[in-house]
Amino acid sequence: MRILTGVKPTWNGMHLWNYLWMYLPFIEKAKWNEGFLFLPDFHSLTSVHDPEIMQRNKHRLAAELFALMPEDAPFTIFEQSKMSHINDMSWILSSVTPYSLMLRAHSFKDSQNKNSDINMAVFNYPILMAADIIGYDVDVVPVGKDQKQHLEFTRDIAGNFNRLYNTDFFKLPEPYIDSNLELIPGTDGRKMSKSYDNFIWIFDDEKTLKKKIMSIVTGSESLEDPKDPESCNVYALMKFFASDTQLNTIADKYRAWWYWYGHAKLELLDMMLTYFWPAREKYQKYMDNYDLVQEKLDAGNDIAEKIHCKKYEEMKKIVWLSV
Ligand code: TRP
Repeated sequence: MRILTGVKPTWNGMHLWNYLWMYLPFIEKAKWNEGFLFLPDFHSLTSVHDPEIMQRNKHRLAAELFALMPEDAPFTIFEQSKMSHINDMSWILSSVTPYSLMLRAHSFKDSQNKNSDINMAVFNYPILMAADIIGYDVDVVPVGKDQKQHLEFTRDIAGNFNRLYNTDFFKLPEPYIDSNLELIPGTDGRKMSKSYDNFIWIFDDEKTLKKKIMSIVTGSESLEDPKDPESCNVYALMKFFASDTQLNTIADKYRAWWYWYGHAKLELLDMMLTYFWPAREKYQKYMDNYDLVQEKLDAGNDIAEKIHCKKYEEMKKIVWLSV
């Protein structure tokens, strides 16, 4: 079985939401399968128009992904823009995609509501995403809830192609959305989401991470008051990193006197630093020597390119562009 997912280099690297909704489910699913993880950098161009920021984001994210990976994990990690025919495939797919379908895209409608001056790539985004997936005969795509509709579009687009050309050439991928995952609160207490800009970035330096965590919104009880852990955003975040025993001890402290939210935040910081310590160390090593990362990416690019090119050549034959 082939598992694939992508993390866009549009932001400051990996945030907790990405990690919990995409990265961990990917590792879980890909463990016993063929795993492909890639950086959809063409997709980032819809919003990043500063080459320096583009490069910084991409380097940072690639270094982070390799830092998080278990050593010698047999996954293929690659760059979308190194695939020679990804946009060719996307073009052919756009020729079998109804305009009316694309008008229904939530991501497009949201962008349009926020900004009247939106570019065509935002509109075409789901078609390129379909090429990212069906171009490698992918079976399962672990994604966050926000990508559910994109996956439905991918299946529609693949299905349209198959129907029009009377073939079963493209596999219809299944999304994998971890519905057991509890809501992840952001720093403002609302769900962690790009629309609220309330992310916690895993690889921020310690000072920045501390500042972020200290800014998490909490109740306003005073030091002496007993507090309810279950209604606290800090405690909700601790649940992802602490053992049950640790959590029980902390819950008792909340309910007793003299436990201040500041204490809880420092404990959360400590948990996160401990949890991500090995990855943070490796990240520094990779950032200090980016060639190591590029070498690994190049190896992944070769593998992915071969698969994608083959699929594209076959696709061209089906539509009769080359025989
Ligand atoms: N649209 C995804 C996001 O915004 C990124 C992405 C692009 C992707 N192509 C993909 C994810 C293919 C999974 C599979 O996060």
